Amino acid sequence: MIDKDNLLLRNLWYYALPSHLLKPSKMVAKTILDEPVLLMRNKQGEVSAVHDICPHRAVPLSCGRFNGQEVECCYHGWRFNPQGNCVEIPSLLPEQNTDLSRYDVKSYPIYEIQGNIWIYMSDGNNYDLEEIKKQVPIVKSFTEKQPDLVEIIPFSCFIDHAVTGLMDPAHSPYVHRVWWWRTGELHEEVKQFDPSYLGFTVRKHKISSNDENMSRLYWLVGGGIPEVEISFRLPGVRIEEIEFGKHRVTNLTAVTPISETETEVNFVLYGMPNWIKIFKPLIHILARQFLGQDRAVVEKQQIGLKYNPILRLIKDSDMQAQWYYQLKREFAKATSEKREFINPVKSILLKWRA
Ligand code: FES
Ligand SMILES: [Fe+2]
Repeated sequence: MIDKDNLLLRNLWYYALPSHLLKPSKMVAKTILDEPVLLMRNKQGEVSAVHDICPHRAVPLSCGRFNGQEVECCYHGWRFNPQGNCVEIPSLLPEQNTDLSRYDVKSYPIYEIQGNIWIYMSDGNNYDLEEIKKQVPIVKSFTEKQPDLVEIIPFSCFIDHAVTGLMDPAHSPYVHRVWWWRTGELHEEVKQFDPSYLGFTVRKHKISSNDENMSRLYWLVGGGIPEVEISFRLPGVRIEEIEFGKHRVTNLTAVTPISETETEVNFVLYGMPNWIKIFKPLIHILARQFLGQDRAVVEKQQIGLKYNPILRLIKDSDMQAQWYYQLKREFAKATSEKREFINPVKSILLKWRA
C-alpha cells in the first residue's frame, strides 16, 4: 500500500542547510515540514533555530535584524536570543513588571557536523536532547571532514516521490541517458540487502562491470573497480561510500520536505581526490544534470498523480520503495504507541534488470 495521506514524519533529524550558507552573525529563513524556521549563527559561530513568527503579531522574525546575539522584530522591536527567549519588549515600562518568558518562541535542536546543519523536528512532546543527538546522520568514514561539493535541488513534489525516485534502481537506463554514466543495454543486477538503523543497507559490493563507462572512469581516477556500500534511513537519508584504489568517496543525499508539494534534495560529496578538484566546476554541472534528470521525471509523475491512481509496485526493483513506505508506517505507529521501532526489513537478495 502506498501512503496517500502525505504523512510527514516527526521526531527525526532533517537536513536544514549546508554550513557554508550560514555565516557568523547572519540568519537564514526556511520552511521545513511546513513550519517557518529561522536559522541563526551567532558571533561565536554556534547555530540555533527558532520558529520564525513573532509571538506578538506574527511578523516573521527574519524580517527584522540579527546582530549576532539577538534578533529584533521589525514591527515593535521585541527582541529574542538564539534560544528563543524573549529578552526585551521596548514598549513596557519598568513598573509593568512583565514575565517575558511568557513570550518565548519555540526553539529547535540543531546539530552541526561535517559541514551540515541538521534540525530536529519534534512532534511537540518532550525529548531527551542527549539521546536524540546520538541519532544525527553522520558519514562514518570522515569525522570532521568538510564537503568538497554541495548541491541543493528543489523538487516540486511530496517527499515520498523524491525519495522513491532517487532510490529506484530501474529508472537509470531511461532517465540518466548520459554518456559518462552508462551504456544502453539492460543487465541483471543482484544485491544483498540487510536491515540497518531506521532503514536498510546494500551490502558492500563491486560496482557492476556492466557499467562500462563508469568503471573506465574509476580506473582512470584511482585505479580499481570500486566497492560500494549504500545505506538508507528515515526520513530520507542515503549514504553511499565508494572505495577505489586508495580513495574513499562518500556522498550523502538528504531529502527535506519543505511542504506537501515542495521537497529539497541535498547532495553532499566528500573525499574527492585532490587532482580531481580542478574539475570541480565540471563536476558541479554533471551533478546538477544528473539530479535534474531525476527532478524532471518526478515532475512529470505529478501530472498522473493528480488523478490519485493506485501505484502498481512490483518485485524486486520496487522493493526499496515498498520498504520505505513500510518503514514510515512503522515509525509513525511506534511513535504514537510510544514503543520501540521494529525494523520491517529482513535480509534478502534482490534481483532486477537495469
Ligand atoms: S509583531 Fe513583532 S514586535 Fe510586534
Ligand atoms: Fe536517478
